[in-house]
Amino acid sequence: MFNQKLTIKDSKNIKSEFSLPTSMHNESRQGEALVLAKPKNHNGRKLYIESYGCAMNFSDSEIVASLMLDMGFETTPDYKSADVIFINTCSIRDNAEQRVRNRLKEFGAAKKNKPGMTIGVLGCMAERLKSKFLEEEKLVDIVIGPDAYRDLPALIHQADEGNRAVNVVLSQEETYADISPVRLNSNGISAYVSIMRGCDNMCSFCVVPFTRGRERSRDPQSIVKEATDLFNIGYREVTLLGQNVDSYKHVPLPSGEGRGGAVNFANLLERVALINPKLRVRFSTSHPKDITDEVLYTMAKHENICKHIHLPVQSGNSRVLEIMNRTYTREWYINRINAIREILPQCSISTDVIIGFCTETEAEHQDTLSMMDFVQYDFAYMYTYSERPGTLAAKRFKDDIPEDIKTRRFNEILAKQQECSHNRVKQQIGKTLLVLIDGFSKKSDKDFAGKSEQNTTVIFPVDNRFKPGDYVYVTIERCTPATLIGRIIDNDQALDLKSLL
Ligand code: SAM
Ligand code: SF4
Ligand code: F3S
Repeated sequence: MFNQKLTIKDSKNIKSEFSLPTSMHNESRQGEALVLAKPKNHNGRKLYIESYGCAMNFSDSEIVASLMLDMGFETTPDYKSADVIFINTCSIRDNAEQRVRNRLKEFGAAKKNKPGMTIGVLGCMAERLKSKFLEEEKLVDIVIGPDAYRDLPALIHQADEGNRAVNVVLSQEETYADISPVRLNSNGISAYVSIMRGCDNMCSFCVVPFTRGRERSRDPQSIVKEATDLFNIGYREVTLLGQNVDSYKHVPLPSGEGRGGAVNFANLLERVALINPKLRVRFSTSHPKDITDEVLYTMAKHENICKHIHLPVQSGNSRVLEIMNRTYTREWYINRINAIREILPQCSISTDVIIGFCTETEAEHQDTLSMMDFVQYDFAYMYTYSERPGTLAAKRFKDDIPEDIKTRRFNEILAKQQECSHNRVKQQIGKTLLVLIDGFSKKSDKDFAGKSEQNTTVIFPVDNRFKPGDYVYVTIERCTPATLIGRIIDNDQALDLKSLL
């Protein structure tokens, strides 16, 4: 599910994005409809909800579904039969918004056949456009920003009365800590746990600080409880989510005194790792300016913290990084990579790259390519720059790199990354890796699919002694450009093997 290799065409039909798997954004889940069992207090009404964007948005949809279930709604995979359609939207690039606009046209056609249907726009695009959305898209009844989901009962009620409703108030406190998210379309093995919301960085290209508001950290007790509950019902992997997990900081309120002092990300990671050695812990996204050696040493200390770091570089050139307002230089980033290689030699590293940012010269583009040569990223998300209204870059700089140059640079970055990814998977041949089985291969139910600690998909023949959710040792025999193929080693041997890995 996380290992799709694909290219997308944007609204101008330019190849502008490419991703190899990481945990933050999953291209194969874009637009996925979310379905659950019927609630006990079913009110006869059906909800259709689909999501776009990053893992945080998918995680939010689980909170929304939980609130809607409490109101008696059941979910349906068929939007045409729904009473309420929700679309949880993303604004990160223009093509993400265009996708939503196109989808709304289809929902509009369904509404004509089913008068009384309510259409709600949730998430980042709702927050960016606010009530303008109601003017631009006449079929939309409700517009809800990411911090306003608790207001859903009131907004649905307003829509039921025939009124259009908007709540896009951003909060400095809301973390939805007390809401148990229902797990949507889950494999029952891996789940996201949101540890913070918003972002206080002002990367000049980025719309997120405007759509998600100020950064705030959720209390560690509720995070550990959620992860523990997941483990107790059979989950074996949690991914801690935040736009910048390294700046996680929770300071107890005076009334909470006696429960310990401030908790930073390294402390939180350790608390979650200690829940059970069989619970794998992942996290995303790390910020190069904030990732500390303390976090790296905590990863080294606990075997169940997966050795994979998503560390978006954006550009390999210090001048471009400066106008991007990333607040680190090329040298600083290299220093952090060296620290990872030294403290965690087996760690995989993935990244995000923006291609053709305002004023980027040919030599500066070459610096990004040379950074990729230096780091040898395991996976990468690559995007051509898309100007976002209201951002610092849109106000200060001209989007002046012609599309044909952006595309040519994009193709050079893409070719480089494909080469790096293939080299990295080839290095695994002959090794024996600990794999968490998360289901069956998409191509054949005679094969299991699972993830290595480094987050690479591993395919191997089904062995009836094992089932999804089990850990197995797999010897890697061959690979495709992004997938490892192997065989489970004999189980008794496996028990003695841990020290060899
Ligand atoms: N918080 C993370 C960070 O700081 O790296 C990721 C944030 S964003 C949801 C995911 C990625 O989208 C970014 O790392 C960046 O590469 C890309 N991105 C953000 N704004 C963009 C824009 N205006 N044009 C193209 N890509 C963009
Ligand atoms: Fe956007 Fe930068 Fe915040 Fe990431 S750290 S969400 S790129 S502003
Ligand atoms: Fe995520 Fe897109 Fe919003 S990437 S935070 S859903 S703008």
